[in-house]
Amino acid sequence: MNKSAYIITFTPYFKNILKAELTDLDKSVYFDKDISDSIALINSKKSFSKVFDLYKKNTPIFVKHIMPVMRTGKITGTLESDRDILLNGIREIVEMAKGSKFSVQCRIVDANLSYSSKDLEVYIGNMYFNEGYIPSFSDKEILNEDIFVISVLINKFDYYIGFSKSSDNLNFQSDEHRICSRTGREISRAENKLKEALAVFKMELRKDGSALDLGASPGGWTKVLVDYGYKVTSVDPGMLDISLQDNPNITHLKCKIEDLKFKESFDLIVNDMNIDPQITGDIMNSLSEALKEKGYAIVTLKLPIRPRESVKEATKILNMKYDVLKIRSLFHNRQEVTALLRKK
Ligand SMILES: C[S@@+](CC[C@H](N)C(=O)[O-])C[C@H]1O[C@@H](n2cnc3c(N)ncnc32)[C@H](O)[C@@H]1O
Repeated sequence: MNKSAYIITFTPYFKNILKAELTDLDKSVYFDKDISDSIALINSKKSFSKVFDLYKKNTPIFVKHIMPVMRTGKITGTLESDRDILLNGIREIVEMAKGSKFSVQCRIVDANLSYSSKDLEVYIGNMYFNEGYIPSFSDKEILNEDIFVISVLINKFDYYIGFSKSSDNLNFQSDEHRICSRTGREISRAENKLKEALAVFKMELRKDGSALDLGASPGGWTKVLVDYGYKVTSVDPGMLDISLQDNPNITHLKCKIEDLKFKESFDLIVNDMNIDPQITGDIMNSLSEALKEKGYAIVTLKLPIRPRESVKEATKILNMKYDVLKIRSLFHNRQEVTALLRKK
């Protein structure tokens, strides 16, 4: 088949540059329908495998998640009939060897139904489990083992179904709302942003490293790194959360990064400073000596204006000292993207 359709998730603010980005990659792509302000149905004249290959080689920065659409149709609104309508559609597209690991990811967008996406996931998952397939509930497994994903999206009375490998989907879960409302005992929302970046970038952190955290206040990223076992030097004129203040593994330098010089070098630098992305690039370059050879850095680029140009300019600056390995708009990013760098 030479045509394919997808549902993509993105930050509404980036919609126009996302369109430009996708068109640059694939001239045949067109936006068919808005499902919500952050979800759209797109079409391409290329096949699924061609588009997935293309996106694997040149991963779009501004796509948070993509699912293929292989079947569409109407639901009725009652659980008993809808779960069978969906299961029948799924049966037509799912092809995996017995014993394969799989995940079911359902989303319900703008539909007032008596059942939840979880109800559907449990039903579909149980059906396949009973037939000898292995359900996976772990984000880590979904990311690192590249398992099969059965994706379902319901919008009003329309359903969309897809089947892909998790790496094709560019993220490990599909439901932005569910992911971003997960709360634990975070110091700041930013904590989940770093956790998502570590997962999507497949960064295995060592247990005993040293890290420099720029723009650390109130301390979400510092906490994530300390919990991994890092000794963290946290730089910010602002305060760290009280729970971090007496932690022997944290040194808080209560000033701007521009006022500091480091003699030591760190295993990792993370940077979430809310400053112009080009200045972020200059600061990161000036700190490259403070990062060990081939050390990694994770940096957010804040994009309140000229997003696409700003990313290009910041990348050009960073390229002087770093290989810019990945740049992605993640579920926890708003008007910003997150970059993975490695010192040259
Ligand atoms: C988005 S917040 C960081 C949140 C933090 N990553 C967390 O997890 O809690 C941005 C921080 O950057 C800090 N910042 C901005 N410019 C800075 C600079 N030049 N040097 C150090 N920190 C800076 C601000 O004070 C602010 O606290």
